[in-house]
Parts: sequence; C-alpha cells; structure tokens
Amino acid sequence: MCFNPFSGFVMSGRRGIVKDLVWGKILSVGVDEIDEDHRRLIHIFNILSHSVMEGESPEYLAATLEELINCTVWHFSHEERLMLKHRYKEIEEHKAEHRDLIQSAKNLQQEILRADKPIADENIEFLERWLTEHILTADGRLGSYLSQVM
Ligand SMILES: [Fe+2]
Ligand SMILES: [Fe+2]
Repeated sequence: MCFNPFSGFVMSGRRGIVKDLVWGKILSVGVDEIDEDHRRLIHIFNILSHSVMEGESPEYLAATLEELINCTVWHFSHEERLMLKHRYKEIEEHKAEHRDLIQSAKNLQQEILRADKPIADENIEFLERWLTEHILTADGRLGSYLSQVM
C-alpha cells in the first residue's frame, strides 16, 4: 500500500498490475452529486483493473471499458447541464476536455479489440491518469464555482 502525495488517495492491493483507486477527500470537488458520479466511475475503474489481473478475455475487458465510457459520457452530460444551469464561464474549455477524454478512451478500446490481447500495465496507468487528472483540475475548478452558486 502506498500513499500518493500528489493526489492524496491511497493505492492499495497492488498484485501484479492491480491498482485500486480509493476515494479520498482530495478527490472531492465539494458538490455531492458530482462526487457521487466520480465514486461510481472509480468503482468501475477498479472492476476493470481487477479483471485485468484475473486474465479476463479482451472482449470482457473491452465490455468493461465500454461500461466505464458510457458511464463517463452520462456523467459529462450531467456536469455540462450543471454548467449551463449555473452559467459557468469556462464551459467551452471544459466541454472540449470532455470530448478529448472520451475520444482517447474510445481509441484505447479500439486498440484492445484490434490487438486481441489483454490491457497492458501502461493502459491501466493511462486510465488512472485519465480518470483522476481531470477530476483534480478542471472538475475541481467547476466544483469550487458551483459550491458558491448552488
Ligand atoms: Fe468534467
Ligand atoms: Fe467529472
């Protein structure tokens, strides 16, 4: 088990390439309904990470990634609705980040299916950054704004 001082969440259960993201205060953006979505996404990420360790088939891994992508698309729509409702000024930049994130996850999914091989260690690390960096930066700014106006 190790503590990541940058993000402040604990990564535990590392066996092989398994990495559990554990919810920590630092990942909270201060808005309950957004935090709930993020916890759900982290939960699906952990299922995916465990599935890799358990040697699930590329089809199963791609399906789990599909679930993560679909849940993320839904979550991004949720955030974008809140941004519109509360007239968030950075909405266009934030939406552009969302579009890029979905595209990069879809690219990875296609690679997995094309290559017909399990997700590699670097793919899991990529997804971990994919999930947490946006929460820690753009969503953190959005959360600070929303918690003042909601
Ligand atoms: Fe976001
Ligand atoms: Fe988010």
